[in-house]
Amino acid sequence: MLIRRAKKEDYPAFAAIEAEHPGYPAWGVKGFEAEENNRNSVTLAAEADGRAAGFINFWILRPQVQLNTLAVGKAFLRRGTATALIGKLLEYAAKSLCREIDLEVNEHNAAAIALYQRHGFAVVGKRPKFYNNTDDALLLRKTVPGV
Ligand SMILES: CC(C)(COP(=O)(O)OP(=O)(O)OC[C@H]1O[C@@H](n2cnc3c(N)ncnc32)[C@H](O)[C@@H]1OP(=O)(O)O)[C@@H](O)C(=O)NCCC(=O)NCCS
Repeated sequence: MLIRRAKKEDYPAFAAIEAEHPGYPAWGVKGFEAEENNRNSVTLAAEADGRAAGFINFWILRPQVQLNTLAVGKAFLRRGTATALIGKLLEYAAKSLCREIDLEVNEHNAAAIALYQRHGFAVVGKRPKFYNNTDDALLLRKTVPGV
């Protein structure tokens, strides 16, 4: 598993991964392209077997990092891809002297909540009816070790 900066050529594969997860808020190719104009934005690709297995995007807003989107292709689930992407995110946060990582997750997204809890994120709040005016968002936060 290789984690590297994403390239324009990765975006169609990222959009295809998003499409494998109905209901997950999709950025689409245009959404990933738009991030190239944001100097605080980092998009990383996980590459396995020569193809994109997953992606992550986050904003470095010292002293915080905002994790915006993270998804893994169906063929690669439960193989540590998201864990590897989060590991790299932590490296970026520490290098950028960011003390906290914040994210929002749908209260019904059990897989993601389990993933984040496994990596030491804690629930610090809630945004009622954040998704489609129906589902609540849980606000999760992790303190970056050593910063
Ligand atoms: C959530 C998601 C990113 C996890 O990706 P992944 O690469 O399969 O995760 P990992 O293999 O790194 O899993 C690490 C741990 O997280 C937990 N976990 C991951 N998926 C899980 C699931 N479906 N059910 C329960 N726990 C899960 C487990 O503790 C797992 O460790 P284990 O496999 O040893 O039991 C993936 O399911 C996904 O892309 N979902 C759709 C998009 C999404 O919801 N993104 C979250 C954004 S807020």
